[in-house]
Formats: sequence, C-alpha cells, structure tokens
Amino acid sequence: MCGIIAFTGSLDVIPILLEGLRRLEYRGYDSAGIATVDEAGIHVRRRSGRIAALTSALDDEPLAGNCGISHTRWATHGPATERNAHPHVDEAGDFAVVHNGVIENYLQLRQQLEDDGIIFRSDTDTEVLPHLIARFWSGDLVAAVTRATEVVRGTYGLAVVSRHAPGTIVGARLGSPLVIGIGPHGHSIASDAGALANHAEKVVYLADRQVCRIDANGWSVSTRGAAAVDCATHDLRQLVDVGDADLGGFPHHMLKEIYEQPEALTNAMRGRLDDADATARFGGLNLDPRQLRGVERIIMTACGTSYHAGLVGEYLFEELARIPVEVEYASELRYRNPPVDRNTITLAITQSGETADTLAALRESKRMGHTTLAICNAVGSSIAREADGGVYLHAGTEVGVASTKAFTSQVCVLAMLAIYFGRTRHLSVSQGERLIAELRALPDAVHAALRCHEVVKQVAQRYSHVRNVLYLGRQFLYPVALEGALKLKEISYIHAEGYPAAEMKHGPIALVDEETPSVFLVPRGQVFDKVMSNMQEIKARRGPVIAIASPDDREVAKVADDVIPIPDVPEWLQPIVAAIPLQLLAYEISLLRGCDVDKPRNLAKSVTVE
Ligand code: F6R
Repeated sequence: MCGIIAFTGSLDVIPILLEGLRRLEYRGYDSAGIATVDEAGIHVRRRSGRIAALTSALDDEPLAGNCGISHTRWATHGPATERNAHPHVDEAGDFAVVHNGVIENYLQLRQQLEDDGIIFRSDTDTEVLPHLIARFWSGDLVAAVTRATEVVRGTYGLAVVSRHAPGTIVGARLGSPLVIGIGPHGHSIASDAGALANHAEKVVYLADRQVCRIDANGWSVSTRGAAAVDCATHDLRQLVDVGDADLGGFPHHMLKEIYEQPEALTNAMRGRLDDADATARFGGLNLDPRQLRGVERIIMTACGTSYHAGLVGEYLFEELARIPVEVEYASELRYRNPPVDRNTITLAITQSGETADTLAALRESKRMGHTTLAICNAVGSSIAREADGGVYLHAGTEVGVASTKAFTSQVCVLAMLAIYFGRTRHLSVSQGERLIAELRALPDAVHAALRCHEVVKQVAQRYSHVRNVLYLGRQFLYPVALEGALKLKEISYIHAEGYPAAEMKHGPIALVDEETPSVFLVPRGQVFDKVMSNMQEIKARRGPVIAIASPDDREVAKVADDVIPIPDVPEWLQPIVAAIPLQLLAYEISLLRGCDVDKPRNLAKSVTVE
C-alpha cells in the first residue's frame, strides 16, 4: 500500500507535497515523511502517525525548496515507527527513496549489503533500494535506479532524488501504480492521479517496468534499459473530481457517503436504463452480441466489501440471467488453476481499481484466455485500464475507509448487468419493463431507508458496549449479513460474524448468550417465515435480537428486542436497502466507542500489496 507524491518545478514544494499526501492518506496512515533536495544535499523530515504529525514537525523545523519526494505509509515490514518511515536514504545521504510495494528478496539483498559493511537504519524492505542505487551510481540517476530495479524482486512504485542531481526526480513502476503529472509550474510523480489535483493539468500512466525522469522543464519515460517510450497524456479534470474530498458539512466522510447513496445510485443508472428495449445498456463492455449470448459461466472476483457485492451478484445473475456464477476472493483466485473454457468471463469488482490481489487475479484470468470485465469506481485506475471492458460506478470519490456507497452502487450495477444478460436470454419484455421500473424507484427507497437513522442511534446506545455481534440473513440478504459484520468489525473493533441465518444451528449458535446480540435481516419476502423461525431459535437461548424489518411488522416486533424499519422493495433489491441501517449502526457504534470512523486502525482504503 502506501502513497507517494513527488514534485519538481518553480513552486514551493512543501505545500504541494502535504496536499498530495492528504489526498493519498487513504492508502495508509501509519507514518509520513518528506525529503527535499538542493545543492546543499538531502533534507528529511519523518514522523510516525498521521500527516498532521509531519505537518507539526515541519512547523518546528521547516523545509523549503522546489524539489522533493514524500510518502504516507501502511506498514508491511517493520512497525509503524519514525525509524521505519520513508523516505529512506543511503549511508552517505546522497540518495533518498520513497516506495510503494514490497521487495520480496530484501532479506537476501540486505544480507549481501551488510556483508559489504553497509549499516541499515530501519527494519523495512525499502531500505535496500537507496543502498543499491548508491552502489550503481555512475553519474546517471535513471541508470542507477534501473540497475537497482533489476536486482529486486517484488512490486514497487518509486520516486528517487539525489544530491548529485538536485531538481531531478526518477520514478519506476512494477506492480504498484505510478502516474506523472504535467502542470504549468512543474512536474510530479504520484501513486494516483487524485494526488495531483491541485497542481497538474495532464497525467501520464506508467506501465510496468517503465522508468520516468522529471525536472522543472520536462518529463520522459523509458522501458527499463531501453529507448524512450511515447506515452499518451490524459486530461486530469476528466479523471478526478477535486471537490469530492470535502466533508460538505458532515462530521465524517463515511456519514457523508452513506447519505450520498440515493444520488450515487441515480448516477450508476443514469443513461443505462433503456425503456424502449426494456433492458439496461452499457457503453464500455466491448462484448459483441455473439460473445454476449455465448457466456456460459461468470467468475466474479474481488476483495472485502466488493466481494460481498459479488456474492449478491451471484444471486442476481442466477435469478435474472440464469447464468452460473462463482464468486472467489481475488487473493485465492490468483493462485488457483480453475478449468477454463472459452465461454467463461471473469468479472473483477473493485472500488479503487488498484487492489493488488484483484488486479493480479484479473491478469491471471486474461493470461488464461478469459474475457475480463471490471466494475470499478476509480476512473483510469489500473483495473479499469487493463480489463477488456467494464462499467464505471460513477459514485464519486469514496474517502471513508469503510466502503458504503461503492457497495450499493456495485450491487446496482450488477443488477443492471443481470438484466442486460437476462434480456438476451429468457427475460421477456414485460419482465424487463417491471425490473427497470423497480430499479428506477430504488433511489427513493434508499432515501426513505435513511430515515431509520434516529432509531439506529437509539439501538447503538444500547449495544455499543458488547464484545460480539452476529449478523444473520438468508438468500439475497446473506451477503448483506457478511457486509454488516465487516462494517462493524472494521470501524468499531467489535468482533462480528455474518452467517446464513439457518446455518447458526450447525455451530455458531453456541456463541449466543444474553450479551451477544444478533442482527437479523428479516424484511417480508419468500423466506420471511424461515428467518422468523431462526430468530425464535436465538430468542429461546436468551440472545438479544435487533431486527431489520418491513415497516410496522407486528410479527417481528413481538419477537425482536429492537426493530429498525426499512421500506419494502422487491426482494432482488433488498440488499441495497437493507445495507443502509447496517452502515449507520456500525457508524453510530464506532462514534460511541470513540473510534476513528474514517481512518480505522491497521487499515487503508486501497490495498495495493498482496
Ligand atoms: C471494507 C472495504 C474493503 C474493500 C477491499 C477491496 O469496507 O472497503 O474491504 O472493499 O479492500 O477494495 P476495492 O473495492 O477497492 O478493490
């Protein structure tokens, strides 16, 4: 993980780097650091903890200049201490490096360097890089960085400065994203385009094994050890919505993003619902009608919350499109060897478009000859660019580490895709018309679901002290139970488990006692009676029950201790509406426990390491 931003030009570099780091903090917030370079040498400030700690270090001991590199860390090798914070420098202080990725053979390289008398000053894998660059230095920074990248194994996005070449920054990429920013006052290198929003106008995406060089006057890209490459430039304003990162009056990004869901769903559907043909339409799938009809199996792959969206997608595709679906964690799929046939497509689901495991699973599927599609939120991200076709969520930037609006938008896009595939097969015009009309009503239903917030606050008061919570649902709502449990775990640090409600009696019911509440997803639908029975089983064992239920459901109220009402919607859309109270519950409990809602401990928004 980690985020890097570097700038060289005619502007004061410190405000640019600090603003860029704030925009990259979603990639990790264990420590932060900056190095500037000028004729006098390299000057470093680093602090463990948030960027605010680095800012106050800079208040105490200011840095100035026009050329610098910086980093915000998510610790992989070595604890989150100042000694392990980037930038890392070589022994002589001639080279400084910031790195996103993992150097897998660092122990072996470190041993070799130590045998040669080099003294390491951190526990990181990264520190081998400045020592290697110093070793390979023969007057050309691009050449030295290139040589160093040839001996390391693993993944990297790098930015490097040298006291021998003040004003020049060299970047290199393998497996971790890197972009060049081109602006009127200088050039930059960053982990993503969003970090460049305050000073660049155009961006260039680096490909794996490419090395770049920037200075105040220009930029160039070459493929490791070879000739210069011509790269396409992209207009930054079309990629990044600068305003999205603001709180807009909300106390936290997560709450803002929960409340943005009606609008996000409207945006996901905009221009994609086709009343004339009673279907959904997509511009970028790049599947011709023959390929579309030929699809016999879909492998959905993702991590975390996006994986849960995929699980809902499995129900949707089987119900509406009658296509068999497998959903697999990307971290597992990338090392599996599933039998391939020509009519299987792989669908990667990802908010950030940069999750390392999802990207690797997509690449592996491509290599095996599958057509690959992606559902992505981040425009221009690695996965969006590498998939054969795809659909953007258009949910706007998601800043809160706990994913909310991306989840419901992903499910909405999966629902539209299921209709699209279904209409090429067995769904009739009238069925298509009904489904499209139901989708159109969805943003209003989600708006109405948000009215449960006051009830959720009261429920949160009653349960914020507990140590364990169970989340239970069936069918379409089983993945939502998993998602509710994940939300609570990640932002309140309460242990929570999601289960199919009927599976409880095969083991987990042993956990139930007076101190362990169960959150039941029990709106009216086909399995309502079955879920009610499961709820009775918990009550019989004195387990407190919080029910997410249809409005004024007296039957539920008789059994449950607390009821949170959600509007009635058709069953296939219940996952989207039922997710709302679970997001709010996790949020309110997190607040009551004094946790950092938007930046929970040990996590980062974008997981760019394996
Ligand atoms: C949880 C959460 C994570 C992400 C996961 C995948 O709230 O946000 O579980 O869903 O890291 O990230 P993306 O969707 O960016 O691939």
